[in-house]
Amino acid sequence: MSETAEITQQPIDYSQRIPNNVDLANDRTLQRALERWQPAFLNWWSETGPANAANLQVYLRTAVSVDRDGWANFGYVRMPEYRWGIFLVPRDESRKIHFGDHKGEPAWQEVPGEYRSPLRRIIVTQGDTEPASVEQQRQLGATCPSLYDLRNLFQVNVEEGRHLWATVYLLHRYFGRDGREEAEALLQRRSGDANNPRILTAFNEKTSHWLAYYMFTFFTDRDGKFQLASLAESAFDPLARTTRFMLTEEAHHMFIGESGVARVLQRTCEVMCEQNVTDPGQLRARGVIDLETMQRFVNFHYSVTLDLFGSELSSNAANYFTAGLKGRYSEGNINDDHSLSNDAYTIQEISNGEMVKRQAPALTAINARLRDDYTREVQAGLDRWNRIPEKFGIPFRLTLPHVGFHRKIGSFAGRHVSPEGRVISKENWERQSAAWLPTDNDHAFVDSLMGRVIEPGKFANWIAPPARGINHLPIEFEYVRFD
Ligand SMILES: [Fe+2]
Ligand SMILES: [Fe+2]
Repeated sequence: MSETAEITQQPIDYSQRIPNNVDLANDRTLQRALERWQPAFLNWWSETGPANAANLQVYLRTAVSVDRDGWANFGYVRMPEYRWGIFLVPRDESRKIHFGDHKGEPAWQEVPGEYRSPLRRIIVTQGDTEPASVEQQRQLGATCPSLYDLRNLFQVNVEEGRHLWATVYLLHRYFGRDGREEAEALLQRRSGDANNPRILTAFNEKTSHWLAYYMFTFFTDRDGKFQLASLAESAFDPLARTTRFMLTEEAHHMFIGESGVARVLQRTCEVMCEQNVTDPGQLRARGVIDLETMQRFVNFHYSVTLDLFGSELSSNAANYFTAGLKGRYSEGNINDDHSLSNDAYTIQEISNGEMVKRQAPALTAINARLRDDYTREVQAGLDRWNRIPEKFGIPFRLTLPHVGFHRKIGSFAGRHVSPEGRVISKENWERQSAAWLPTDNDHAFVDSLMGRVIEPGKFANWIAPPARGINHLPIEFEYVRFD
């Protein structure tokens, strides 16, 4: 059989209340269950999604097929009418499990009983981050630096909403009553709620202004990318196909973060050069964000995102890998036996008050490895950012703090590590951490810059315009209409 013949492709059916390419029309029970969940989702969206935005017409892209070009469908949409749907990449009938104990067996089309509960937990934990980030970003529209940015914020929001749909489909279709209950609970938890918070700490932090938002989409959406990429390797084929399609959306979220921070740097460097100022206070007086403050935000968002990778050494992660539930990043491109039974991996930890490197079993160090893969990609992004001060002849460079810096989860939790990776005392930490992490004063200053700019083609003073508009349109295009 030729390779193309083995791929089963369902077109997306937009005539249905829930657009899908999973042939929902022929599974009445599932269809009814999801149609009952849909109004609850819309309630959740109106309660916790973008504030005061229901009547805006937003120039959004909507997926119309799962091909590479399937995203090229743009038009004005009122967000409550967005066509959230269930889209999986086509099934490859010949797909085999390619790591762990089941390597070589056909990928699973149903959930094996023995892995039901860990798989459900994996899906729920990932799924919970999707609505959480929409909730975290709810108020940002009120202070958008431009229409272009406002539109991009809403694009991310509707796509995170679709990611919620993607995980809810899996829960309803494959996990019976437990799955339906989990799908309900996904709409009930709230980011930052003391009684019923989102599952992961970073998703309970506030995204209170646009600098935090760009940092979040650069650092934290990228954690999403790495988690989704390792789930895209899963032996459970519907999960792999679902996450593969989600990954196509994630790229745009990280673009918003990377280009957003780059534009802030650009603007600050312009002012530094044009007005010949380097002093942070003087730069602030000119309404731009000094580079030292940018560094503190990098330190914060990078370190809280590292916590999302979990403990460096984890028997859970080892079990997930051995069972075939969750692979490594780019598992298929790694040249080893994909079972890791005798391999070692270098990790860093604190021993006798010193930062040391040691060899750990690769299987238990799966989380550390994924985190290191993530760090490499983040560093490449910082290198691109650093070309901006370089271009202006400004010696400042952003750097990533040590992986042990400001950690709450894993082997560095409860320890005090400087950005350079020195183990320090608690007193030392308390004396210096205000120079390393955003202070209340930093937040208050950034907040003070936030004002709503909605005139087409205009940008807030603290951020440069983007290099180009959306979908080949000019930067001054009316990306959001208020009538
Ligand atoms: Fe997402
Ligand atoms: Fe995302």
